[in-house]
Amino acid sequence: MTRVLGIETSCDETSVAVLDGAGDDVHLRSLVILSQDVHRVFGGVVPELASRAHLTAIEPVLRRALAEAEAELASIDVVAGTAGPGLVGALLVGVSFGKALAYALGRPLVGVHHMEGHLFATSLEHRDAVPPFTALLVSGGHTLLIDVEAWGRYRLLGRTRDDAAGEAFDKVAKLLGLPYPGGPFLERLARDGARGSLRFARPMLRRDQRPGDADYFDVSFSGLKTAVLNELREPSPTAPSRSPADVALAFQDALVETLVEKTARAVEQFSRARVVLGGGVAGNGALVAGMRERMASLGAHVYAPSGRLATDNAGMIARAGLHHFEAGHRAGLDLNAYASLPLPGQIA
Ligand code: KG4
Ligand code: ZN
Repeated sequence: MTRVLGIETSCDETSVAVLDGAGDDVHLRSLVILSQDVHRVFGGVVPELASRAHLTAIEPVLRRALAEAEAELASIDVVAGTAGPGLVGALLVGVSFGKALAYALGRPLVGVHHMEGHLFATSLEHRDAVPPFTALLVSGGHTLLIDVEAWGRYRLLGRTRDDAAGEAFDKVAKLLGLPYPGGPFLERLARDGARGSLRFARPMLRRDQRPGDADYFDVSFSGLKTAVLNELREPSPTAPSRSPADVALAFQDALVETLVEKTARAVEQFSRARVVLGGGVAGNGALVAGMRERMASLGAHVYAPSGRLATDNAGMIARAGLHHFEAGHRAGLDLNAYASLPLPGQIA
């Protein structure tokens, strides 16, 4: 049994977690997530403010995580921190803090890739959300479709060519005059929408695409965002009386169907029986429901994380850190923070 302290500061959540485990037998003893509200008034994350907020929050968040886990600092076996990708200034707070802790405690340090963390998040709540599975990671900064053969063996199948799924939600929400971050607000608005004459084209989804085509698994959402913008400027003649809620629903439908169909292609190609969702957009009820319905027809089960584990959190970083620790990986005290970082463990 190894006790891991996880630290996550890549964007606007200061988070620390304590996790005990061996292999897939893990127990999340505590998870503290402090969301930085300061960015709301600016309508987006302000990097300099994020770094400063992490700096003041990180120690109290650590104390709280230890208290909730009823764990002494000395009982920590490994320190795992997000090293990238993310905002460099924000990451540096967690990386520096983790390095100092590891050094002071005389314990090993492990650097974790933020998106690999998201791959592990759902397994903290669902024992069966373990490899092999098809993963769809949808957050504010990333959209990744990955075949996970085993922990640490990742086939990167598709990604977004432009906007990430969460980014598309946030931008369209802004066009609709909704607060930031817009994803959850847009989902709420779409509930009042009616399906009818308004329909947006499914981006990069055509029946004639074949495995091996460059766009078979990739997605693109900037055209969809422009279609929404055009619709708001000048309502289409087919739907003259459509409401903002109808537009929100038509946008969400197009985005969800695109993600669901791309995921279905991956499930079929690799004959997977499990689909694991991750990232903030995995908290979208329409995406989860649409995915469940489509995957049932392929005989695959869908695992979605709860809101706390869908969003950025240190529990998933501790879990990914445990995997790397057990694989013998160690970071030196020269560990740095990286704005962009290739996903580790990629296979062809
Ligand atoms: O993973 P995450 O918490 O942070 C990043 O690493 O980016 O994802 C945040 C993104 C935001 O774009 C937010 O609008 C979106 O996830 N999001 C949602 C929902 N909840 C969060 N998008 C659509 N529907 C939701 N219910
Ligand atoms: Zn994230």
